[in-house]
Amino acid sequence: MSETLLAIESSCDDTGASIIIDAEIASNVVSSQIDHQNLGGVVPELASRKHMESIGWVVEEAVKNARIEKKDIDAIAFTRGPGLMGSLLVGVSFAKSMAQALDIPIIEVNHMEAHILSHFIDDPVPDFPFLCLTVSGGHTQIVKVFDYNKMEVLGQTLDDAAGEAFDKAGKIMGLPYPAGPHIDRLAQKGQAVFPLPHPTVDKYHFSFSGLKTAFLYFLQKEMKKDPGFIDNNIHDLAASLQSTIVHILLKELKQTSQDTSINEIAIAGGVSANSALRSQLSKVGAELGWNVYIPKLEYCIDNAAMIAQAAWFKYLHQEFSSFNITADPRLKV
Ligand code: KG4
Ligand code: ZN
Repeated sequence: MSETLLAIESSCDDTGASIIIDAEIASNVVSSQIDHQNLGGVVPELASRKHMESIGWVVEEAVKNARIEKKDIDAIAFTRGPGLMGSLLVGVSFAKSMAQALDIPIIEVNHMEAHILSHFIDDPVPDFPFLCLTVSGGHTQIVKVFDYNKMEVLGQTLDDAAGEAFDKAGKIMGLPYPAGPHIDRLAQKGQAVFPLPHPTVDKYHFSFSGLKTAFLYFLQKEMKKDPGFIDNNIHDLAASLQSTIVHILLKELKQTSQDTSINEIAIAGGVSANSALRSQLSKVGAELGWNVYIPKLEYCIDNAAMIAQAAWFKYLHQEFSSFNITADPRLKV
């Protein structure tokens, strides 16, 4: 008899639902809240309202696409945190209510651990222990992954996340939110000709807030001389910013690999969709003899398939959560 889980993701501004049957993803539905593009960022109140509107049909769609019926579901997984409280509450409450109606157990999942475990959705899968650079809009961490349930954060950002650095610098350039994908696209036609600072922090750690400020001051200075500076140099500015961020990320990753003697290297999270990070990692990995694991684009951005995969490991060990559980916006790896 097959084992079937429904997984729900609602930590930020994407509502996702996925079905996993006997360790295989059978459906993966995401509804993105494009309204935030025009608002310069995610507005928490608006995000939770949108989740309320979408979650019903997103779950229906995931069930339909997997060609199952709700009565076939054996457990329901949900993102407990980290994320926005109002957004998380929608997913947690929906999962608990549906599970109670179906009289089945629930499984809590940590969103950041799920980004890492998305590497187990498709072959090739990394060997334990591996290092994962987790880079999203809210996090930048180097994690040593011993097992699906045992992870140690070796280093992290002391201020802004890498995705935030892309988004904030992009906002200064007048790009829509989230700016990361726009910078990636613009950089493809540019050269990294503008030198930007590389902050020095303790090894394995990161700091991006100084980069954003330096970028702002640099643009203000140049705009005084030439008000059209940003428009005239948009491709080179994007390439300079992107290459600086990628350089900073890979420098610490190399150091961590060297110190831990781990050559199984993965990236995960929204910024792992960045084309320069993906190509540079492959290049550095080939030079240093790493086995490199780069997620498919659909598993870089927030999605429920990664929640389903993380929940699958827990399901195999019958690790269920209490119905008293609530969301935890600051849940740690
Ligand atoms: O993991 P994610 O979808 O949501 C969070 O959990 O934060 O990551 C979103 C972040 C945003 O900061 C976005 O700008 C960034 O990932 N991002 C990118 C690219 N695609 C998404 N950054 C650089 N290049 C990209 N291609
Ligand atoms: Zn995420």
